Amino acid sequence: MIKPHGSEKLNPLFVYDEKKHHELKKEAESLPSLLLNSAAATNAVMLGAGYFNPLTGYMNIADMLSVAEKLQTTSGLFWPVPIVNRTDDISAIKNAKRIALRDPNVEGNPVIAIQDIEAIEEISTEQLNAITENIFTTLDAGHPGATNFLNLGKYVISGPIQVLNFSYFQEDFPDTFRTAVEIRNEIAERGWNKVVAFQTRNPMHRAHEELCRMAHDRLKTDGILVHMLLGKLKPGDIPAPVRDAAIRKMVDVYFPPNTVMVAGYGFDMLYAGPREAILHATFRQNTGCTHLIVGRDHAGVGDYYGAFDAQTIFDEKVPAGALEIEIFRADHTAYSKKLNKVVMMRDVPDHTKEDFVILSGTKVRKMLSEGKDLPPEFSRPEVAKILMGYYQSQAAK
Ligand code: ADX
Repeated sequence: MIKPHGSEKLNPLFVYDEKKHHELKKEAESLPSLLLNSAAATNAVMLGAGYFNPLTGYMNIADMLSVAEKLQTTSGLFWPVPIVNRTDDISAIKNAKRIALRDPNVEGNPVIAIQDIEAIEEISTEQLNAITENIFTTLDAGHPGATNFLNLGKYVISGPIQVLNFSYFQEDFPDTFRTAVEIRNEIAERGWNKVVAFQTRNPMHRAHEELCRMAHDRLKTDGILVHMLLGKLKPGDIPAPVRDAAIRKMVDVYFPPNTVMVAGYGFDMLYAGPREAILHATFRQNTGCTHLIVGRDHAGVGDYYGAFDAQTIFDEKVPAGALEIEIFRADHTAYSKKLNKVVMMRDVPDHTKEDFVILSGTKVRKMLSEGKDLPPEFSRPEVAKILMGYYQSQAAK
């Protein structure tokens, strides 16, 4: 099986040893504590689950700057996005060496991890702006990811962590949330070697379904990992439980058994487009996948990124050998009225725009809100039904 990123073996930061886990939980009760923001909490989940292997904790400013500018840490590890714990209020932890990190996303703010503090540094506006521009390509207040990142706090708390739980993800999505360790194990159990991952934050319509099928057929993979984000999204995006149900239905009805593994990861969407695509590839390698599908406007938002920037960045910014996972580059995919099937546009050069059934996300939302059925060329009826149920329940509120 493909090796994890940066190490021979996956090293999840969750404390699996029961005795040790118990001791740490006890110790946490008497440690100074910090209430995390959601970004830091989901970073802890990803670190705990092995997705962010081989990182051992949160980055300092030097690593943030280095990763933002050169996609590598100061020690030379390839890494595309700063993984940080930031806050504006350090009053409770000022002179502490070891602190308990509290989860803002779970009632009662239980301790999610323990951190050894290597440094607490204040980041300057210039540094923060430079990092944000490198990662998100903009400082625009209209960009949900850039704005969120800019507002995470001026103090950067770096150092290794030990993770005690997976936040709300395990409880809320027991059938779907999986650690990188679990996915690796399941890939091995299924006897798969070549596996293509499909990243998604949306329900899967026919184009997405066909992208998976095309990647599977063309790469001759043993299986497909449909891997959905379970964390926070911007307003208007479909909530994870609805998306989960729609995806599972589609997979059940339209893929042969033992072709697709459906799973999810506990992370908030960054909307960092190309940079996030590299992060996506990096952590899919940690799950044991050999390929990641990167299509049109991957991890994008608004018009901040070019439609295929998330593909070209792999040529421009990922040095040869930095990652072992490869990307499957998908062109804009849509239903062809001429051929009566879903196609990649580059495969049908004789087509014009009018030959395709194309619906924007905005249009889809509008149709569903108005109770209008989605065309079967765009969405499988089983999927459309689940989405309609959700939109109508929202309208009734
Ligand atoms: S993402 O933020 O998780 O990337 P989304 O769930 O919409 O958003 O997309 C999942 C994957 O499918 C991404 O790789 C994206 O580029 C790709 N994709 C979505 N729609 C299309 C399409 N019509 N044609 C080609 N690729 C697409």
